[in-house]
Amino acid sequence: MSKKLRPVLLGGFVLVILGMALWLPGTDADEADVPIVRWTFEKAKFKGKSLPASVGKDALTLRGNPRWLSNPEALEYVDDDFRSFVKERMEPHDPLLPKKEFTVSAWVRIDEGTKYGGIVGAMQDNGDYERGWLLGYSETHFSFALATEVPVGQPKMTYLKGKTPFQRGRWAFVVGTFDGKQMRLFVNGQEDANSLAQNGLIAYPPVCSFEVGRYKDDDEDYPLRGALREVSLYHRALSAEEIANLFKKQSQLTELPEAPRPNTFVIYPYLQYPTAESITIMWESALAGNAVVEYGLTTTDTKKVEKAEEGLIHEIPLAGLTPETRYVYRVSTTTKAGQVLTSDWYQFMTAVKPDSAFSFTVIGDTQRNPKVTAKIAKLMYDRRPNFVIHCGDVVDNGPDKREWVQELFGPCRDLFSRSAVFPTIGNHEKNHAHYYKYFSLPAPEYYYSYRYGNAEFFVVDTNKSVRPDSEQYKWLDKSLSQSTATWKFAYHHHPCWSSDDNDYGDTKKGIRRQGDLNARSLTSLYEKYKVDIVFNGHIHLYERTWPLTGDKVDRKNGVIYITSGGGGGSLEDFDPLPTWFKAQLRVDFHCCYVNIHRNKLEFKAFDQNGHLFDQFELEK
Ligand SMILES: [Fe+2]
Ligand SMILES: [Fe+2]
Repeated sequence: MSKKLRPVLLGGFVLVILGMALWLPGTDADEADVPIVRWTFEKAKFKGKSLPASVGKDALTLRGNPRWLSNPEALEYVDDDFRSFVKERMEPHDPLLPKKEFTVSAWVRIDEGTKYGGIVGAMQDNGDYERGWLLGYSETHFSFALATEVPVGQPKMTYLKGKTPFQRGRWAFVVGTFDGKQMRLFVNGQEDANSLAQNGLIAYPPVCSFEVGRYKDDDEDYPLRGALREVSLYHRALSAEEIANLFKKQSQLTELPEAPRPNTFVIYPYLQYPTAESITIMWESALAGNAVVEYGLTTTDTKKVEKAEEGLIHEIPLAGLTPETRYVYRVSTTTKAGQVLTSDWYQFMTAVKPDSAFSFTVIGDTQRNPKVTAKIAKLMYDRRPNFVIHCGDVVDNGPDKREWVQELFGPCRDLFSRSAVFPTIGNHEKNHAHYYKYFSLPAPEYYYSYRYGNAEFFVVDTNKSVRPDSEQYKWLDKSLSQSTATWKFAYHHHPCWSSDDNDYGDTKKGIRRQGDLNARSLTSLYEKYKVDIVFNGHIHLYERTWPLTGDKVDRKNGVIYITSGGGGGSLEDFDPLPTWFKAQLRVDFHCCYVNIHRNKLEFKAFDQNGHLFDQFELEK
């Protein structure tokens, strides 16, 4: 040891002694430094599937593959499937949950803003039901939310939004405090916002998940995109000075350079337009890069198709496949800077041979209700359909990309990665380019047909004219006349016939058109060419008609019309009086399931709880 160093070290020793004195119980510094719980995200601490607390006893459970960072040591959140939480079902009396005063702090890096962002929280915010607290962020700012008990009525959360925008990809120290009267939000040691809107005891739901790195309650689930270095919870409100001191201890983190934007799946791989010999695989990456699909009969014997051209939305057609054959596939995108994004292995199957059995499911109107859409998508996936028909209104607002990503492809991820969706365009897509970008269909895309097994499907756009002088009518007339399929199905968004109460007139006032008159132009073609079933959406409920010819029930030769608009859009209702054509009605979220083997067809409809509520069989 050099003599020069000695005084410095001695000085350090004296400081340590002084520091220990300040750590004695009962002093402010002691409490500031000793939270109820603190998690420090360091790989060495990680044991099995959990991260023990550095202070306190509640470990964090890590589900999925953790991505550890060094310099600084931290845990990166880039994979939607990765999750960290204390307890999935935490009750209000849990000793970890503060009753009134508390402080929650985090060293966090936000790589991507989002509408709902969670850093740490224990809450439920579902419609009018608002309970608990959350340290979070939005597209641009940090936030601190809290609901307290109220003498009358329901607790309401206050979302306290910071004034200073966060810096994407940079470390920040974010703190929320509540002293029973005032909520305060601090960013990098400085007070950024406060509110007196809440008062008294914190209102908790009977059960909630204590999440770290996620905005999650019963209705929403949005993973953090960024990284965590340290999260602490105190059962008292720290003072501004204490928070400034805590910040100073690691303030150098804020000087680290901006983290590169991570490459992630904006939309996970999904299938389009399978035929007996081909299929198209699509996905969207956060960063532009090339597109590679590896596929084969097993993961150890694969071929590779590569598109060098850089892009975000990737579309790779595979050709020369064997009919009715199961394949495995995975995709990857590599940026110019060398960031590689690779998916898990998924599976697809080529279209079956004409004599083989197959099945498809039907859904419609998956609008602004991702929780229900996820539930219906799971019901469909549980039945392992060969493909899926979507009757339109795939999103609520076509130009809003977020809806496509989070409300259609997100909830349908497991399904669409294995069962291709064949859509028709609704009115809510607003004919936006997103529809044509995200679906890969034969030109001109808004109308098309496809063959699957011994069936043929005809899809038209009823937002446009389908009257006898229209291009679509003429195309349909010709295509149907040439069809040699055993089973013929048609679908479009608007109903030829509907028992709805007010979309076509106002049945309560005696005005009723009982369906879309443009779409009804097609019924003569459906009758002429003996189409078996016509599906539509638009009306958010379920209806099956009797077989119809003209304006009569014709059980022998008629066409069956099925409205399946139960994918999530807010439910509608029926005419108060019976219509002449209805055979079965149901107001609920639902899906349909159609099974075909040669000349036999089985039809079933399931409500959102998986209960069968309608079925019939056809035989030729
Ligand atoms: Fe709709
Ligand atoms: Fe619609």
